[in-house]
Amino acid sequence: MKDMVERERTCYCGELDRKLIGTEIVVKGWVDRIRDLGNLIFVDLRDRTGIVQIVASSGQQEILKVAKEIRPEYVIAVVGKVTERDPETVNPELPTGTVEVRAEHIEVLNTSNTPPFPINEEISTSEETRLRYRFLDLRRRSLQKNILLRHSITLATRNHLSEAGFYEIETPFLTKSTPEGARDYLVPSRVQRGHFYALPQSPQLFKQLLMVSGFDRYFQIVRCFRDEDLRADRQPEFTQVDIELSFPTFDTLFSIVESLLRTMFTAADIQIETPFPRLAYADSINRFGTDRPDTRFGLELCDVTKAFTETSFQVFRQIIEEDGCVKGFLAPAGPRYSRKEIDDLGEFVQQYGAPAVSWIHSDADGLRSSLPKVVSESELSRAAELAELGQDQTLLMLAGKPKVVHDALAALRVHIARRHALIPEGQWNFLWIHDFPLLEWDEEEDRFTALHHPFTSPRDEDAELLVTDPGRVKAKAYDVVLNGIEIGGGSIRIHREEIQKQVFDALRIPEHEAKERFGFLLEALHFGAPPHGGIALGLDRIVMLAAGERSIREVIAFPKTARGLDLMCAAPSTVSERQLRDLHIQLKGH
Ligand code: AMO
Repeated sequence: MKDMVERERTCYCGELDRKLIGTEIVVKGWVDRIRDLGNLIFVDLRDRTGIVQIVASSGQQEILKVAKEIRPEYVIAVVGKVTERDPETVNPELPTGTVEVRAEHIEVLNTSNTPPFPINEEISTSEETRLRYRFLDLRRRSLQKNILLRHSITLATRNHLSEAGFYEIETPFLTKSTPEGARDYLVPSRVQRGHFYALPQSPQLFKQLLMVSGFDRYFQIVRCFRDEDLRADRQPEFTQVDIELSFPTFDTLFSIVESLLRTMFTAADIQIETPFPRLAYADSINRFGTDRPDTRFGLELCDVTKAFTETSFQVFRQIIEEDGCVKGFLAPAGPRYSRKEIDDLGEFVQQYGAPAVSWIHSDADGLRSSLPKVVSESELSRAAELAELGQDQTLLMLAGKPKVVHDALAALRVHIARRHALIPEGQWNFLWIHDFPLLEWDEEEDRFTALHHPFTSPRDEDAELLVTDPGRVKAKAYDVVLNGIEIGGGSIRIHREEIQKQVFDALRIPEHEAKERFGFLLEALHFGAPPHGGIALGLDRIVMLAAGERSIREVIAFPKTARGLDLMCAAPSTVSERQLRDLHIQLKGH
């Protein structure tokens, strides 16, 4: 027989079905499971398409001998005949479960050590071990499915954008600090002593320059690098579907993105509805406490500050006098929360800087509340009225500075929704958030910073405010939110130099600094920059949501841990003295 390494495979394991009954086939793959019944051995053979059952039975001594040697994760090749399974052995769980392969020849192509965790079972191993042996973890069905899904979504994206007239253009990885913040990964230059490249946080400036160059519609499926604190939906390197177009209107831009997202989700067999609802930033904060609200459930916020403006309860009184607020939402109807439950909620909101949760409950006996006796009946009634508190309902409330109250309530809203199972599965609530403030006040730096980035255009009607009251200027910026997760963000850019200068002034970026950091962009604005704008979608987050995963690590082949480590390669790592010397770098304290 021809060497099995050389012999062509005729099909994948997962492709075997009744149509092939009676055919001789060659399959190759990994041993998933073995059941040895003495004179009868069953081997589940796995490849990226699925699993098929191989049978070696008595009378095939040679084959049985080989079959007895094999262990899980050995790589084997099997020549055999596809046969129908006996009705009692049909496995409805397996797509190939009505057939099996009667082995005529089995060859071990490679052995395997015992894997540190079973590949064929639902994983109970720590994520650390999984990441350490990522090449094995990636053999598991769920990850194989996720990576295939990512491929399908990426391919659909590329085709869709190309058909919509976008050119895919690559931009540099070794570049200069981008404007999005201080979180750059730096790369020292060997040739230019003491100089550093930065890995791009996004191709923002380059895509704007491509518009100045006249490419009209650009896209790139591109890796971005950000040295920021990590969360389940953040990685230090992640992928954007980056888009820019010239002469955009909001409607063109929104409909391009909506139809792209429809295509991306169709690639995951998910049908979504377009156009997406639009919600102004200020309304989003008021109603949900956040600019990325999950709208699959209610629990909208209500403002009950007015009920307490004259209160004798000093804590509320003082908060309100210092421009604070009292806001809350109605928890789902039911019995009153126990003291322990309220304490737990209090502990929960403390993570967001809010001291405690207060409540008012309405039942047959009237209103009860956690507030001290100095709070009058009429204040309670007024709050209940403002919140439209119904019978057997509880109003949960927080008091404090608006930012703290909003952040804490936004989180509490999701917490309560999860607890009461209010979040429906299989629902896809997309939302545009628009009219973001252009600037936000940075207490630490004692100046305004750009909420999006300094190249975002202010709204035309706010041009004057930019000089007189910059904090009130709204931007031509927008985010796309899906089920409470920000999956994209973009803006119409400034294309005229005088406005760019006003924004830099408001940001207190002096001319020489602007020139030094992004002079090339400013220069380009002098040379007939067209009106332009764009967006970047977070590919990892989109695939995560489409795959029904809770962490983007489950849809990235080789992700980093929450502490930014690659446990498999052990990166980052120290480097040799020699390398450092070549780069003219000396480590302090070494
Ligand atoms: P922004 O910073 O909003 O915009 O990023 C766009 C989208 O990228 C995703 N994203 C991330 N995903 C995983 N890990 C991260 N660390 C991470 N950071 C961001 C989010 C986000 O909505 N240049 C602008 C775009 C533009 O104006 O066109 C930009 O980068 O889904």
